[in-house]
Amino acid sequence: MLERIQKMLGNKAEQTDKTHVFDENGAIPKHIAVIMDGNGRWAKSRSLPRIAGHRQGMKTVKEIVKAADDIGVEALTMYAFSTENWKRPRDEVDFLMKLPQEFLTTELDELIERNIRIRMLGIQQGLPDFTLKALLAGEERTKNNTGLILNFALNYGGRTEITNAVTEIAQLVADGKLRPDEINDALVNDHLYTRDLPDPDLLIRTSGEIRLSNFMLWQLAYTELWFTDVLWPDFNKEHFYQAIAEYQGRARRYGAV
Ligand code: FPP
Repeated sequence: MLERIQKMLGNKAEQTDKTHVFDENGAIPKHIAVIMDGNGRWAKSRSLPRIAGHRQGMKTVKEIVKAADDIGVEALTMYAFSTENWKRPRDEVDFLMKLPQEFLTTELDELIERNIRIRMLGIQQGLPDFTLKALLAGEERTKNNTGLILNFALNYGGRTEITNAVTEIAQLVADGKLRPDEINDALVNDHLYTRDLPDPDLLIRTSGEIRLSNFMLWQLAYTELWFTDVLWPDFNKEHFYQAIAEYQGRARRYGAV
């Protein structure tokens, strides 16, 4: 394992800061959620259009998926487009909607080779046909894979997810299939998009913003939060492993002492 990690991090002699390396014998987060923020500012600082930031951000997605897979993370959930992001300029939305197709066209073979399973979290309705088709085809082609689960949260909103769960549960009660006193945390969880996944152990948000922006509101209840000023297009596997190293130093108490 150590050899594998050293290989992934490249030539040891080139490393100047060993504190970025996590403990390979320590706890690796099973599920990592990521708010990929700062694409627009990255582009602006280079006098480029915002979409150039998103294109560069997609390259970071590729690097981080591999970095997570290399160390045995079980699930990685990337916030790619929120239910609020439709308010952005039309050309930016159009560009973002093309990214899943482009990502899967270039990456699917390698994802399959790595035994990665792709899934989409969010509302399918409202997505352009080509976006949905690409994602569903990716889900279908990787559905029997047993390695890393790569979730793209697309047209995703945490409050909408919880509201949908409440609606489904209310319907079960109205139909006489469920009693109100049978509703508990586990039942609510069973009506979320992430019903078969563990809650994230670690949330990473880039670009210096310290908020959740309607992301996985139910699931993040006991998640360790890690923020960095690094903009998403500049984020790399060393930053990712640094987040894991800091996660390993946290004491998780889940409300106990
Ligand atoms: C937030 O940065 C970023 C997004 C809304 C889009 C994130 C999408 C990607 C990184 C690419 C996704 C790739 C695939 C394969 C789906 P921002 O634009 O809000 O940045 P700003 O706050 O600096 O303006």
